[in-house]
Amino acid sequence: MSVMHPRIFLNVCFLLALGHEIEASWEEWWTYDGISGPAFWGLINPQWNMCNKGRRQSPINVEPEKLLFDPYLRSLHIDKHKISGTLHNTGQSLVFRVEKDTKQHVNISSGPLAYRYQFEEIYFHYGTDNNQGSEHHIHGYSFPGEIQLYGFNKELYHNMSEAQHKAQGIVGISLMLQIGDTPNPELRIITSAFNKVLYKGSSTPIRHISLRSLLPNTEQYMTYEGSTTHPGCWESTVWIILNKPIYITKQELYALRKLMQGSEQTPKAPLGNNARPLQALHHRTVRTNIDFANTGVSKTQSCPTMYKDMYYKANRWTSEISARGRERGLPDIESVFHSLP
Ligand SMILES: *[C@@H]1O[C@H](CO)[C@@H](O)[C@H](O)[C@H]1NC(C)=O
Ligand SMILES: *[C@@H]1O[C@H](CO)[C@@H](O)[C@H](O)[C@H]1NC(C)=O
Repeated sequence: MSVMHPRIFLNVCFLLALGHEIEASWEEWWTYDGISGPAFWGLINPQWNMCNKGRRQSPINVEPEKLLFDPYLRSLHIDKHKISGTLHNTGQSLVFRVEKDTKQHVNISSGPLAYRYQFEEIYFHYGTDNNQGSEHHIHGYSFPGEIQLYGFNKELYHNMSEAQHKAQGIVGISLMLQIGDTPNPELRIITSAFNKVLYKGSSTPIRHISLRSLLPNTEQYMTYEGSTTHPGCWESTVWIILNKPIYITKQELYALRKLMQGSEQTPKAPLGNNARPLQALHHRTVRTNIDFANTGVSKTQSCPTMYKDMYYKANRWTSEISARGRERGLPDIESVFHSLP
């Protein structure tokens, strides 16, 4: 895929030359492999040049030992009332979009956020097998899937398309998907509609879903500044990765993997494996509100709490967390870190 066929390259140049005439169709033109894949997103549309040039890009691999504990990170607020919208197979991803004329939008605020954001859409990333799927990796591990809730800065901007390329425009909340036996009732509302969006261009209404109930039961998260993981890769996104996975059953995953990239007549390949490759961190920091000094981990003198320090300091907690797991004989998956194999 690194070799671009000369004729295809000419076609790309030709398309670029057409400029504004075909702007609307750019939205549909990118893919996750081949000559319109992630390595070329920044070349096929000049407005997406951050996809190739950016240095604050997403997704990233989160390394536990490099996390910075920040005691000033508050817990995240998400409204709990239910909303309705539409689930779309876009040919690149499975996307849920909130109803345009929603009266009471879901606010996302607090946590690391300086502004109030309005929930807008959910992206589903997943693998065609269990060894890949999530865009963000934790300690080098890819989960079978990742659900991303996107909102835009409602205090500064009017809508997603205005906000996405502006400062502090977007929030992305990332939920890692792990395979489990007990269905998540809120996720179920969406997964039961998978068979209605088998092909590109199909969509189906989803009614009365509570995002807050979809979230895992944790106030702990990791956060960093990055980009949207789809074109144009604008570096306007505050990412919040929750420190627990949510569960999807094998049956739900099976239904998800039946979705196709193409139409019913030409279904092409399965929709899965729609993850952008990992991007370099380039000296960014990933902060966390997980305070291991106060979670019942060893409180010996050799392990001072972060509160006494006048500066941030990296937690060395990969060993602590595994020690804690061993102490309590934790067989269970408690956080995204515990759920690593
Ligand atoms: C969201 O925030 C705005 C501004 O504070 C407020 O007017 C609105 O009622 C909030 N929505 C809900 C559902 O609480
Ligand atoms: C978004 O807001 C901008 C600025 O108000 C407006 O020009 C544009 O038409 C809006 N776009 C959509 C899709 O509503």
